[in-house]
Amino acid sequence: MTDGSENILDNPLVGRYIGFAVCLPFTSFRIKTMSAAPSWEPLGPDLPSVLSAEADPLCALAEAHIPAVILRRAYDPAHCEGLVRRFIERGLMRDPQDAETGLADPATRIDIGTSLGNRGNDREAFLAHAVETHALFETLFDGFDHPIKTIYDALAALDTRKHVMTAREPDGRLYGPAIFRVHYTGHQYHPHIDHVTLREKRFAFAVTRFVHQFAGVMCFQNAVHKGRCAQAILHRCLWTPDVQRYIATQTFPRYAEEQGIGGYRVDLEPGDLYFFNTRLIHEVPAVEGPNPRIVLASFIGYSVEDPEIYVWS
Ligand SMILES: [Fe+2]
Repeated sequence: MTDGSENILDNPLVGRYIGFAVCLPFTSFRIKTMSAAPSWEPLGPDLPSVLSAEADPLCALAEAHIPAVILRRAYDPAHCEGLVRRFIERGLMRDPQDAETGLADPATRIDIGTSLGNRGNDREAFLAHAVETHALFETLFDGFDHPIKTIYDALAALDTRKHVMTAREPDGRLYGPAIFRVHYTGHQYHPHIDHVTLREKRFAFAVTRFVHQFAGVMCFQNAVHKGRCAQAILHRCLWTPDVQRYIATQTFPRYAEEQGIGGYRVDLEPGDLYFFNTRLIHEVPAVEGPNPRIVLASFIGYSVEDPEIYVWS
């Protein structure tokens, strides 16, 4: 992961991203004890409810008026289970029951798919890997509902004026459409943001044209251990260069506490799908226990005035 915000405002592409400010006190978990606090709650639990509560939910995400859109049981939990079994059978992920393989391979995260964040430094290799991923995904879900289509269809329903498609370069070459991430014991995401321009500075890729970046994440399996379960926390704080110092030094939790910045914990069950603005500082505590936390994740490029929405991983 790269962090640094050095000289980022010098880039003319970046100025347009830094608009409004941004860290707001109060939290959804805090609202229970601070009755005067304004609400910051997700929209959900299904598409009709979301659309009746908010005419333009993606715009509400872009402006961080809400922490997330959460669609409960967007995908059949039995299909989540079935696909996880298939991943193990095909050797795409480690069997958590197989201690020997675990010892031989100490990696705490396995990706099934193509990651721009991990592979984008070599553009040709990244695009070639994406071709393999598309070939793999062509048959991987046979016999099950297509989980990636579920994400794309949900996005299209959230803004019917736009065309949702896999991200592509001007020559038509496609990015990975989404990625399965399997997180084993100890894997943790410290407070961070995801943004191809603000964080990763990948100005040479077509997705840099979008002002806003969202994530669409579908829970495939929770890592429940001794009654605890690692779930994402969205802080009510959009990234700015000022906040970057607390991210880089891993002191954001103390800063958030001092500033009274609230947040929202996204508790998911298998089959639940949620969307959030990845410029919100967010984190996932360490996975505990033998069962991996498995999600299907995608990034989403969105601009209010752009007729297209790009999805990639
Ligand atoms: Fe993230």
